[in-house]
Amino acid sequence: MQRCALLESTASSPILYHLIPNPHFLLTPPHPMVRAFAPGKCILFGEHAVVYGHPAVAVAIDSGVEVSLTESDSWTIEGMAFDSWRHPHISHILYDVFEYEGPPLKMDISSGLFSAAGLGSSAALSNAMGAAIHSLMRPGETLDSVELARIGHSAEAKAQGGRASPTDTAASALGGCVVVSAKKVEGTRHIFDASLETPEGKRNWSICKVDLPAEFDASLVLGFTGVGSPTGDMVAGVAKLLAEEPERHADMSAIANITQAGLTALSAGNLRAVGMAMDACHERLQALQVSSPALDALVEAARPHSFGAKLTGAGGGGCMVALTDDPQRVSEAIEIAGGRPLISSLGAKGVRTLD
Ligand code: PMV
Repeated sequence: MQRCALLESTASSPILYHLIPNPHFLLTPPHPMVRAFAPGKCILFGEHAVVYGHPAVAVAIDSGVEVSLTESDSWTIEGMAFDSWRHPHISHILYDVFEYEGPPLKMDISSGLFSAAGLGSSAALSNAMGAAIHSLMRPGETLDSVELARIGHSAEAKAQGGRASPTDTAASALGGCVVVSAKKVEGTRHIFDASLETPEGKRNWSICKVDLPAEFDASLVLGFTGVGSPTGDMVAGVAKLLAEEPERHADMSAIANITQAGLTALSAGNLRAVGMAMDACHERLQALQVSSPALDALVEAARPHSFGAKLTGAGGGGCMVALTDDPQRVSEAIEIAGGRPLISSLGAKGVRTLD
């Protein structure tokens, strides 16, 4: 697994136990009290169009964020003093949601996701932290993924000035394939509704799932350009383009139609049709000027060995994604073209505690 540290965990070497002259310590070596893992996500269809009320389709990926919490003498995160102000989503989960009043915690975080790459690393951290604290405070109680999705979303909103779509947190909490839209999309299974008071007024979303057929035998390969994906700037750029060139609204409607076609193909397990929809979606995103030469180069490199490929997320930088039955070959092609590949299954399991 790639270790592109958000923050890396520090496991103590067992040899250390022999060097510490504390008999109590020798009998009870330090171990994480609780551990939880939450996956990242990748948007297959509908990025940018979802800002205008159309649906977006996201899948959970295999890589994600693991959190371990151990009781300690002082509050630390990754070996450094924990400062609530620097980690608003974590302090929101600890104090606002769970009203934690227990002993200080040593928090270790290990990430297998590229950060600021549109893979939902922040949402995965919020969800894994929520699951770990839930397990610490309510031992033995079943983890409710919808409750966690809501907790994660509220933490993201807290950390992002009241503006956060539930896409990343829902995909990471629920796992599988998630559809987020202003209203329920035909052919999907409704899971829950989310709403948020934003600085621009109240926003509502319907979160649904699509069950992928068992015979859906293909992998995703993500390719990171190495450049961060500035979501806010890209969304603002699209808004400006639409104001200056209203005819570009046709691209938004086209993306909505492609998303619907992609969803039908996903439900039917039709890999070629999913790939065609991905290619078509990339073209429309190029027309909206959110692709980049680096993203286009990785998409082109992946295509000869893929059913389809497109940028994923906000664009400008970040990642592209390819659907393929030859992930090693696509991975190599992406690497040769200058990208950093990450192979994943399609629709990984959602957030969970670890033994
Ligand atoms: O790159 P990400 O994961 O932040 O995706 C952004 C998706 C957008 O549709 C561009 C913005 C949004 O809020 O949905």
